[in-house]
Amino acid sequence: MRWLPELSYALLDDADEFVGLLQSWPVALHRDDGAQTPLIMVGPVAVMPERQGEGFGKLLMDRLILDADALADAPLMMIGDPEYYGRFWGFSADATALWRAPGPVEQRRLLARDVPRAATLETIGGRLGPRQNP
Ligand SMILES: CC(C)(COP(=O)(O)OP(=O)(O)OC[C@H]1O[C@@H](n2cnc3c(N)ncnc32)[C@H](O)[C@@H]1OP(=O)(O)O)[C@@H](O)C(=O)NCCC(=O)NCCS
Repeated sequence: MRWLPELSYALLDDADEFVGLLQSWPVALHRDDGAQTPLIMVGPVAVMPERQGEGFGKLLMDRLILDADALADAPLMMIGDPEYYGRFWGFSADATALWRAPGPVEQRRLLARDVPRAATLETIGGRLGPRQNP
C-alpha cells in the first residue's frame, strides 16, 4: 500500500533539522453489508521526543486538515488520543463503535472526523483494511 503524498509531510525546523512527520494512507471499511467505504487513515503522527510540546504536532495536523478539506475524497480516521485529536480537529469515536481494526485497539482511540459524511457508518459494522481499488 502506498501513502498519499499530498496528505503526508516531513517537518524541518528553522535549522533544517527533522522534527516530525505525518503520513496518510488510503484505506477502507469493508462493511458487513458487503460494500466498501473509502477512508483516509492518518498515522503515524510523530514528533521527535526531544521536540515534543513545542507545537510541531499541531502544525502538522493543522496543515493536514487544511489540505484534506481541499483535497480528500474520503473521511479521515486514525488511532490516537481523543483528548488531542478531538480538542483541535474534531475527531471522535462516535462513528466507529462497530468498526474492527486488524489488531487490538481501544474503541475510544479509534477516531473519525467529518462525522456528517461518516454518519451512515455508525450503524454499519465492518473491518478496516486496504482499499481494494485505491
Ligand atoms: C502526539 C504528538 C504527535 C503531539 O505532538 P507535540 O508536538 O508534542 O504536541 P503539540 O506541542 O502540538 O501540543 C499542542 C497541545 O496539545 C497537547 N497535547 C499534546 N499531546 C497530547 C496528547 N497525547 N493528549 C492530550 N493533549 C496533548 C499539548 O499539551 C498542547 O497543549 P496546550 O496548547 O494546552 O499547551 C507527539 O507528542 C508524539 O509524537 N507522540 C508520540 C507518538 C504518538 O503517540 N503519536 C500519535 C499516534 S500515531
